[in-house]
Amino acid sequence: MKTVLEVFDVDMKIGDTVKIKVFIEPEADRFAINLGKDDFDLALHLNPRFDDDEDGQVIVFNSKEDGEWYTEQREDSVLFEKGEYYKFCITFLEEKFEIKLADYVLEFPNRSSMDIITFLSVQGDVRVKSLKFD
Ligand code: GAL
Repeated sequence: MKTVLEVFDVDMKIGDTVKIKVFIEPEADRFAINLGKDDFDLALHLNPRFDDDEDGQVIVFNSKEDGEWYTEQREDSVLFEKGEYYKFCITFLEEKFEIKLADYVLEFPNRSSMDIITFLSVQGDVRVKSLKFD
């Protein structure tokens, strides 16, 4: 996936929220929002896919340590539409990430008990409309 946005030296502590609004390209295949220490150490990889080989439309969640992906978690209850805007409010908690969308709340465990997020990236077939750290 192409890199759309990378922010280094992020200062997100437990309890903090980042709000990201994206526009999904009309011909999108997939995109991802990542939080962690760097591209080799991700506590959250949130990866909506429109045409996954196994599941078709699905959100793949994973984490990465030392460049190695861990076990995927998959969620197929949230359907995104291409050519639309979506706002993700991601709250970083000690035990999990809470991801709020307009009509859904998703969760992914903070598997490596990361206590500070210093890296954020957005990849794939989206444009970033807004980004705010709260
Ligand atoms: C891989 C994919 C990565 C990432 C990972 C998550 O197959 O190439 O971009 O999404 O799955 O487990």
